[in-house]
Amino acid sequence: MAEFEVVCRTPDIAVGESKCFEINGKWIGVYHLPDGFYAIDDPCPHAGASLALGRLAGDVIHCRIHDWGFGIKDGLCRERNLPQHKVQTYQVRVRDDEVSIRTSPS
Ligand code: FES
Repeated sequence: MAEFEVVCRTPDIAVGESKCFEINGKWIGVYHLPDGFYAIDDPCPHAGASLALGRLAGDVIHCRIHDWGFGIKDGLCRERNLPQHKVQTYQVRVRDDEVSIRTSPS
């Protein structure tokens, strides 16, 4: 059975913003997009910067260090010829105003 861990409440992250949480020793960024909440591994696979501190454009987060883009919904790197730099995505559940993340990768 899937394990979910409550990380915050819906008002804690406004639409278009993100926050980072440590879950089981991993830093995971939670993003509030207009169509819901999404979660991806936070460290940038290029050089480890926090993606949650980057610039959000639609459903792509751009790393603040070298501007690589990563899809919030699929974790794919948007830079040409760099598909191997995918970040892990996680299932998010919202019940009432509680935001939970599935602690095993989706
Ligand atoms: S550290 Fe993120 S693009 Fe370089």
